[in-house]
Amino acid sequence: MNKNIKRIAVFTSGGDAPGMNAGVRAVVRTASHHDLHVYGIYRGYQGMIEGDLKRLEPRDVGNILQRGGTILKTARSNDFMTPEGRAKAYQTLKAYDIDGCIAIGGNGTYTGAMVFSEEYDIPFIGMPGTIDNDIFGTDLSIGYDTAVNTAVEAVDRIRDTADSHNRVFFIEVMGRHAGFIALSTGIGGGAECILLPETDTDIDTLCNNLRKGLLRKKMFSIVIVAEGNTNGNATEIAAKVKAQVPELNTRVTVIGHLQRGGSPTALDRVLASQLGFRAVEFLLEGKGGVAVGLVNNQVVCTPFKDAIEKSRKLEKDLIRMAEILPL
Ligand code: F6P
Repeated sequence: MNKNIKRIAVFTSGGDAPGMNAGVRAVVRTASHHDLHVYGIYRGYQGMIEGDLKRLEPRDVGNILQRGGTILKTARSNDFMTPEGRAKAYQTLKAYDIDGCIAIGGNGTYTGAMVFSEEYDIPFIGMPGTIDNDIFGTDLSIGYDTAVNTAVEAVDRIRDTADSHNRVFFIEVMGRHAGFIALSTGIGGGAECILLPETDTDIDTLCNNLRKGLLRKKMFSIVIVAEGNTNGNATEIAAKVKAQVPELNTRVTVIGHLQRGGSPTALDRVLASQLGFRAVEFLLEGKGGVAVGLVNNQVVCTPFKDAIEKSRKLEKDLIRMAEILPL
């Protein structure tokens, strides 16, 4: 154990994700178990720059395990991208005698942590918190499972009305440039077609699939549109399809930020707890400049550089399966 680590800080940054609170709870309570003092930094890097932090005791994180959002708030800080902003952040951490930080967020959060730890002598450990699940070095990121369950529940509801009216619904889901949410939502929701950034399905192919469905007396369909796909958003795609296949009765639903809120699933709670627990232990073991992740059910560390620069790929078999099962 690293006896030099006595005070640590934890913060959430970037887009919020269900399960972040469970991660904060795990960090605070594991640290307390090891007699460390923990400070919660509010609003991510912006709060670090502005000195917005508060001591967190184990009881301060009671009753948050099951809550969505983040009690520490979150932000995307432009100031932290400047050397002056990072210098102010360093002054804050020094003023509070912080010996190590745990950053919960996605790629932008890791990039900030990497740049900062290269410039200053305070170790950072990252925890993957994003619904997008696009972080290299972990099989799952905190919030992804909840977001997919929320989206699948929405698809189930839309399916009822789509069936009643014989309609084709274009349902847009989040994921930024990655199709993980879309693929899982499409498979879990039994979608006829899934438009992913990774596969680049064109409109003609989509129209042909929907026409084939009509020939097979498929009276309603669900098309999942990943927000990062190259054909446009769900409204634009629906219009293009309607122009080519006017007999289809089309409607559009954008699930949007509904996917970011809500009580985390059990899987997200356990994942966030595991990662928070080990993140503190890794700091105490003298590690820094790495992100924790779950790979093959083991908590592992990946250097920030790899976690940022390498990309996670969708399972090819899942994509193939998603095309076959809805027939
Ligand atoms: O990264 C999480 C995410 O929800 C993406 O899926 C989405 O593209 C983006 O954040 C939306 O960001 P904002 O909440 O700033 O609109």
